Amino acid sequence: MTPYAIVAPFLRILTRFPGGWGTRYSETMTVDPTQHESRDVYKLLIGSVVPRPIGFISSVSADGVRNLAPFSFFNAVCQNPPTVIFSAGLKGASSADKRKDTLRNVQETGEFVVNIVGSDIAAAMNTTSGDYAPEIDEFEVAGLTPIASETVRPARVKECRVQMECRATQFVTVSDKPGGACIVVGEVVRIHVDDGIVDGYKIDPAKLDAIGRMGGNTYARTTDRFDLERPVVK
Ligand SMILES: Cc1cc2nc3c(=O)[nH]c(=O)nc-3n(C[C@H](O)[C@H](O)[C@H](O)COP(=O)(O)O)c2cc1C
Repeated sequence: MTPYAIVAPFLRILTRFPGGWGTRYSETMTVDPTQHESRDVYKLLIGSVVPRPIGFISSVSADGVRNLAPFSFFNAVCQNPPTVIFSAGLKGASSADKRKDTLRNVQETGEFVVNIVGSDIAAAMNTTSGDYAPEIDEFEVAGLTPIASETVRPARVKECRVQMECRATQFVTVSDKPGGACIVVGEVVRIHVDDGIVDGYKIDPAKLDAIGRMGGNTYARTTDRFDLERPVVK
């Protein structure tokens, strides 16, 4: 009998309690999210869904203040029309306005820019994630260069090798409970790609050098890649 088999019955009793260690059958940890602290479930989510791409979102407030922040609950979800989403967590009940600056700006103006983060600006990207007051311009805080967009008011990040100008098409509030979030859906109306990283329409991933987010404060590079041919089913 293994040591685990001896303690397993006691573990099962422990895990009946909220905040317990998760039900363990055999060698699997099985968690009912409703029975655990939301922050612990969050750790399982962000530790499992990896690496997550980072949407470095530039927006502007209704009265013209620039804003820049990273969001790793981010992805491209449709090609026609080209569509991206990101999810902004809602602040605690103590805040008069639960929205992060990015979400408030995009809801007020309907516009944002997604910038793709290379490893060369990882530290600057991280700097912009501080909880700065709405009147603070994170471009300045992080020493990044704003350049004008063609079709929307928010600036692009010059140091990013891909920038996408977007118009918000939908806002989906997943939940306004603590830990809840609002998903922003946006149509990409312009794509800017550094000439030096693209051949035709094919982006060289080595030159893009995008980073992704793992759990905690860990990031991944995109330097270890491999190819697989798609099966042709006749
Ligand atoms: C790499 C990274 C990814 C992040 N992803 C998210 C995310 O997906 N959703 C979110 O609400 N906050 C995320 N954050 C935290 C926000 O960037 C942070 O709350 C920021 O202050 C929001 O800025 P804002 O109030 O100017 O919108 C992330 C932070 C980092 C460093």
